[in-house]
Amino acid sequence: MTETTHGLFVSFEGIDGSGKSTQARRLGAALEAAGRDVVLTREPGGSPGAEEIRRLVLEGDPDRWSAETEILLFTAARRDHLERTIAPALAAGKVVVCDRFADSTRVYQGVSRGDLRGRVDRLHAEMIGREPDLTILIDMDPGQGLSRALGRQGTEERFESFGEGLQHKMRDAFLALAREFPARFRVIDGNRDIDAVATDVLAAVETELA
Ligand code: ADP
Ligand code: TYD
Repeated sequence: MTETTHGLFVSFEGIDGSGKSTQARRLGAALEAAGRDVVLTREPGGSPGAEEIRRLVLEGDPDRWSAETEILLFTAARRDHLERTIAPALAAGKVVVCDRFADSTRVYQGVSRGDLRGRVDRLHAEMIGREPDLTILIDMDPGQGLSRALGRQGTEERFESFGEGLQHKMRDAFLALAREFPARFRVIDGNRDIDAVATDVLAAVETELA
């Protein structure tokens, strides 16, 4: 997919319950209040086809899919999301705020069940071929993140039911990605109240827009 030079593509990453969705909504509202055109979206999902794939991957037995099959499903969803939602919005000069993107596949499918990072990256290079301009990593204590996430009581618990040990591993993997891609990552401490986190998020995005 060709790189677009318009708009700004911001992703939120972090473990389950770290506050990504809350902060993505807050950021979207703040940017709209400042007169920007914003598209608030999420993965897996963000287009009708990708939302159908979301149900396949997030509901049901934790052993329903192998890690390799998940890489294919998440990448298929992402390709559709990119083609139909993200790329057109960026081409129209909008700010795209996306709750999770390819870094989640690098972490969840790339390290949780063996080292599959090479496969994730090869498929990404072939089928997606672009990264966000800015990635906000909401860093968070895994115990607190898990209790927040389980407190939501939804049906999409396939990953959350993997438990706290895995959440520690995922947090470390996100921090390692931030060190690997320092130009686009900003790490923000999520163990604070919503307003304090939102202030730091907005400052990071405004710096990028300036
Ligand atoms: P994520 O999208 O990362 O899984 P959410 O934004 O859905 O996280 O937040 C998970 C839960 O924690 C929600 O019930 C939300 O209201 C709450 N929450 C989010 N941020 C904070 C915060 N900074 N302090 C306390 N609770 C929070
Ligand atoms: P999400 O709805 O963001 O969950 P949460 O709000 O609890 O953080 O994402 C759902 C789950 O999907 C989450 O546990 C992470 C997982 N996931 C992957 O495993 N790979 C991916 O590529 C993506 C985008 C998400």
